[in-house]
Amino acid sequence: MTILTILRYPDKRLNKIAQPVKQFDARLRQLVTDMAETMYQAPGVGLAASQVDEHIQLVVIDTSDAQNQLQVFINPEIIWSSEEKTFYDEGCLSVPGIYDGVERPAEVSVRALDLDGQPFELKADGLLAVCVQHEMDHLKGIVFVEYLSPLKRNRIKTRMIKEERELERTQPAAKRRRV
Ligand code: NI
Repeated sequence: MTILTILRYPDKRLNKIAQPVKQFDARLRQLVTDMAETMYQAPGVGLAASQVDEHIQLVVIDTSDAQNQLQVFINPEIIWSSEEKTFYDEGCLSVPGIYDGVERPAEVSVRALDLDGQPFELKADGLLAVCVQHEMDHLKGIVFVEYLSPLKRNRIKTRMIKEERELERTQPAAKRRRV
């Protein structure tokens, strides 16, 4: 089992634009397995490939209480969003310890490919809708703190940089790579 290193905000690699997946091969399956393990261990309800420095359009999500319903979205597109909005306190594995309110459409319909390259559509509401939009933002290089005020964002940035420096001192990144 491989636990991947999750990039931390404000790492510039989180701003890269993810490319569409073209090859549905063993490497992709392995990446999905590793991303799922990484997400469950964190623990989190969603992880985008961008967060583990793989800049392809791939997202894993599991919003179930038992954490046993993994959903994989490859090359996802939002094909419909509701006019009704929802305001949710979001968190992100790349911005540990920070939660803040973001407004987004309350419901979305997503079209994506599964691990076999087969298309499917899904209508999401509640936490899943929030999560799908949050993870798809990562693929566009957007971290949710971009939606907050510049004041809040700068405060978060300063805190993250300070924590990263502290982490680097006590647990160098090379040793944090695998668990
Ligand atoms: Ni995130």
